[in-house]
Amino acid sequence: MGVVVRLCVECDHDKCLDIARDLRDWFSLSGLEKMAVDLRLYDTHCAYLDGELAGFINLKYSATMVEIVWLAVKREFQGHGVGTALLGYAEEVARRRGVGLMVVKTSGDLGYEPYTKTRRFYESRGFMPILSVNPYPEWGEPMILYVKCL
Ligand SMILES: CC(C)(COP(=O)(O)OP(=O)(O)OC[C@H]1O[C@@H](n2cnc3c(N)ncnc32)[C@H](O)[C@@H]1OP(=O)(O)O)[C@@H](O)C(=O)NCCC(=O)NCCS
Repeated sequence: MGVVVRLCVECDHDKCLDIARDLRDWFSLSGLEKMAVDLRLYDTHCAYLDGELAGFINLKYSATMVEIVWLAVKREFQGHGVGTALLGYAEEVARRRGVGLMVVKTSGDLGYEPYTKTRRFYESRGFMPILSVNPYPEWGEPMILYVKCL
C-alpha cells in the first residue's frame, strides 16, 4: 500500500507532535512548543503509510509562495518515500492555489549531521539554497533558506 496524504483534523495534532517529540536530534523543546501552536495556526497535512500516521507537513500560504513551516516523518518510516510524498502533495496544493514558489527555512549548522541529511533531502528534491543567515535572529542559530520554483 502507498502513502496517502490528507488534511489533518484537530485530533491528529497531538499524534503529529508525538512524532516530532521522538525526533529530538532535529527539534528542540522550544521548537516543539512553537510547533504545537503552528500545527493549529496553519494547514497541517498528514501522511499515512499502510493506514498508520507516518508524517506530516505544516504549510503557511501567502499570495506568492507556500512556506513549509514544519515537516517530519516518524523515525521508523524515514527513508521510505513519505517525505517525498508530502513534498509532492504540498507542491500540488501550491499549484492549485496558483502559487509558483515553495520555500523552507532549515538549519544552516553545517557541522551538525542530522540536518546534513535534511538539506540533502531538499536539495535532491529541487530546492536551492538562496540565503544563509548566521545567526538567524528568530532562532539564535544558523539558518539556510531554500526555494523551489514550481
Ligand atoms: C527529512 C525527512 C522529512 C525526509 O523524509 P523521508 O520520508 O525520510 O524521505 P524519503 O524517504 O521521501 O526520501 C529519502 C531521501 O531523504 C534523505 N533523507 C534525509 N533524511 C533522512 C533520514 N533521516 N532517513 C532516511 N533518509 C533521509 C535520503 O538521503 C533520501 O535521499 P535520496 O532518495 O535522494 O537517496 C525525514 O527524514 C525527517 O523527518 N527528518 C527529520 C526531521 C526533519 O529534518 N524535518 C525537516 C526540518 S526543515
